[in-house]
Amino acid sequence: MGIHSSKNIRLLSTAVKPKRLKSVTEIPGPPVYPFFGNVFGFTSPETGPDPSRILEILDYQWKIYGDIIKFEIPTRPTTLFLFRPDLAEKIYRASGSKPLRPGFDALRHVRSKDPLTNQGAMGLLTSEGDQWYSFRSKVQQPMLRPKSTLRYTPDLESIAEEFISKKIMDARDGKSEMGPDFLEDLYKWALESVTCLALNARLGCLEPNLPHDSHQMQIIRGVSDIFINSMYLDNRFQFWRFFPSPRLQKFTDAYNTFRDLCSGYINQALNDIKLRSSDQKGGDPTLLELFTERGCDEATATVMALDMMFAGIDTSSHLAAFAMYQLAKHPEVQEKLHAEVKKELPSKDSKLHMKALERMPYLRATVKEALRTNPPAPLMARILKEPLELDGYQLPGNTVYIPCHYIMSMSERFVDNPKEFMPERWLRLNKNPMHPFLVLPFGHGPRMCVGKRFAEQEVSILLAKIIQHFKVEWHHGDLKMKIETISKPDGPLRFTFLDR
Ligand code: HEM
Repeated sequence: MGIHSSKNIRLLSTAVKPKRLKSVTEIPGPPVYPFFGNVFGFTSPETGPDPSRILEILDYQWKIYGDIIKFEIPTRPTTLFLFRPDLAEKIYRASGSKPLRPGFDALRHVRSKDPLTNQGAMGLLTSEGDQWYSFRSKVQQPMLRPKSTLRYTPDLESIAEEFISKKIMDARDGKSEMGPDFLEDLYKWALESVTCLALNARLGCLEPNLPHDSHQMQIIRGVSDIFINSMYLDNRFQFWRFFPSPRLQKFTDAYNTFRDLCSGYINQALNDIKLRSSDQKGGDPTLLELFTERGCDEATATVMALDMMFAGIDTSSHLAAFAMYQLAKHPEVQEKLHAEVKKELPSKDSKLHMKALERMPYLRATVKEALRTNPPAPLMARILKEPLELDGYQLPGNTVYIPCHYIMSMSERFVDNPKEFMPERWLRLNKNPMHPFLVLPFGHGPRMCVGKRFAEQEVSILLAKIIQHFKVEWHHGDLKMKIETISKPDGPLRFTFLDR
């Protein structure tokens, strides 16, 4: 057929016709009202507008409005919730070498008035642009190199053993079910572990009967208070920027207590390094020593250690709690894991080899699956300063994008049997790989979690040691997640631990 046939001309003309890009105003979302935007539309019949139920609310809204939903609130940039992994991919790829992550507005506000953080060392969580890049390049390599975590295997194992003996065995007192304080006990384990990693020091968090006003308990409560108050201060109308706010005061008090107490321990650790003569140093350097070797000044090292203690308590303990819960609910998974653990830890007093975790693929897959089913950070966020073409829309610069990873990861549209807890899906033999931008519990790209290796190492060691000693059971209703900036168990952790 000749090239000039009328059919070909018609085909060519449709191929080159420029596609009309829709504008941001055409993106679906709850109805918008003057002064309030569409903030009141973010609700669901089951939950109401409760911000701690935002995951259920978003899941409900996804079904009504589709894969991109617009959230508008006066004085704040337009926010788009995304529900497809290819959309998430496009956002991460457009974020460049210095990605901007919104959030922690109240923390940034308080830190901008604090002499420790407002003279250049703002910290990774709350800085942006060149300031963030310069900070990150000093700490990235020591924190993410595998050797930094491997070095602490024996210490983390000894902390896990102390947790088992003092918080499980001694606490059982004839009953094998844990009491209502077990989550607090996990916070103590996480603080002890992250301080060991950050400062090479032990705080004695696992000592029995730690007083309510002890430094350790004040640090733990400080972090929880920062997270819960952040949820209200960051995500609603930010009146606290203009008027006195009791909630901001609560937040500031919690932050100051946390900062003062942690700084005391951090200064002590930095002084210990200075006092140790060079011939005493030898061997594998500690994390703080690595920071100093890479040109971190004292303020940068202090703020990094502070951020580790802030970001490393609730995240790791909630993940450990949910991983134990999933194992308790899925005895067949627990037995497979036990078989693997038994090879590395054949008796109750066996110790982990430095390379043991590398030889435990099922344990790694279990942790990954718990990060899919119960991620501490279920939603990610980026701001793009530049305009972007996305899925048929022409979007303006300064838009906030929230890929809803948890909601997508639990959807049949993207995962086979999403409600099933199946570590097997992360093993190499799995034939149905998921989209690489679907499950991203530690974020993505240059700004991804800098504590990823530490968190994985701590939680894997705790799980291996628990499964070495006990069969874990759960005899109650389902343990749900609620949101207090990060996700957390919505109820007491009433595990039953039976001796193996
Ligand atoms: C299960 C535990 C944890 C999870 C799921 C988690 C998750 C995350 C996520 C999703 C981000 C944002 C990444 C992005 O924007 O791409 C992040 C950032 C961060 N995390 Fe974690 N985290 C965990 C534990 C830790 C621990 C133990 C530490 C410290 C030792 C830590 C320190 C940080 C810091 C400092 C940042 C900010 C990084 C930056 O902006 O450059 N995290 N984390």
